[in-house]
Amino acid sequence: MTIVMEDIVAREAKYVLQNYRRNPITFVRGSGVRLYDADGREYIDLLSGIGVAALGHGHAGMARALHEQLQTLIHTSNLFFHPLQGELAERLAQLSGLSRSFFCNSGTEAVEACLKFARRYWHTKGEPRAQFVALDESFHGRTFGSLSVTSDEHYRAPFEPLLPTVTFVRTNDPAALAQAVTTSTAAIIAEPVIGEGGVRPLTPAFAAAITEACAKTGALFIADEVQSGLGRTGAPFYFQTLGLSPHLVAVGKALGGGVPIGAALLSQQVADTISFGDHGSTYGGNLLACRAALVVLAELFDRGGVENVRRVGAAFERRLRAIAAAHPIVRDVRGAGLMWGLDLERGANAIVPAALERGLVVNRTADTVVRLLPPLIISEADADEALGRLDAALGAVEASA
Ligand SMILES: Cc1ncc(COP(=O)(O)O)c(C=O)c1O
Repeated sequence: MTIVMEDIVAREAKYVLQNYRRNPITFVRGSGVRLYDADGREYIDLLSGIGVAALGHGHAGMARALHEQLQTLIHTSNLFFHPLQGELAERLAQLSGLSRSFFCNSGTEAVEACLKFARRYWHTKGEPRAQFVALDESFHGRTFGSLSVTSDEHYRAPFEPLLPTVTFVRTNDPAALAQAVTTSTAAIIAEPVIGEGGVRPLTPAFAAAITEACAKTGALFIADEVQSGLGRTGAPFYFQTLGLSPHLVAVGKALGGGVPIGAALLSQQVADTISFGDHGSTYGGNLLACRAALVVLAELFDRGGVENVRRVGAAFERRLRAIAAAHPIVRDVRGAGLMWGLDLERGANAIVPAALERGLVVNRTADTVVRLLPPLIISEADADEALGRLDAALGAVEASA
């Protein structure tokens, strides 16, 4: 099949809702950490489809498992049992320490489920608490509940009124959090590493303030690990690195390695307050999605994936800091494992096309931040080559300023 870029763009312009500003590239194939466009040009992928393709592209084990699953059974609905959902929930319980899973299809649905379960917890206890406390710079998704706890006005304003029961506090300000959380607070929600808001890990002092506020008021804690979870930072979840004990955890993105699946993980204490029929999803946790997630978790946690994140992540950080030191436009380097942001002194928009020209896929977030979320299976050699291309892109943008 010949692929003509102009035809693709023209057809989309006519028929697809124009809500995404796409880069002018059509990817047609991938292998490992490499993507190939319609003209056969090769790119190193330091974005993995925004933190999704944890095993890279064209993964042979994933392809075999999904092929077999497609030929066997894809979907039967949650009206019946199937053999894979319990197996996946058991794995997630072992990794997170939270005893139960609810499966859905995306990150925003996982967050919605956590918000609903927090409300349901207090309703069941006969003390209906409605308030949520969320963070400035947070991003939790685009559906109404998730958007209500997302801070950015740009996302919120066209859809107001949103949930009126949300208080935002300054990220990493323990005193502000202590003041905002009261005995009316149903839950605090936070990303342990803020992703879209500019790759900002929570500080240990702020994590301690979350624990203290929950202990003092009874408020639940929801950790949104949609972007930071499942090995991305070198631990199964970053809340573990921070010593936090969430009552609810939202998971998505990397879980299916590209097959859509999300999950809300619940402590037993919260799970005990949920009844049959309280929440549900037609697709949630179907056979195909669970099969994909089981492959991802096996690769990451049984076959050395997370050790690779730690090892390559350390080398990645060293090289990134050296590059940052050589470029005056970089004012900060933040992250952990294989989740990094280079904060620039000016808008980071120009870096994306400069990187693409040099065969590198990166992304800009929070205006000034170049975000790097490589596949978790990246080798040290590929990471080095990719960061060499980033170095060149930064140099070109600096020279043209
Ligand atoms: C921390 C976090 N939560 C939730 C979401 C929403 O996930 P989705 O786009 O799959 O709905 C995202 C997406 O970027 C995210 O980064």
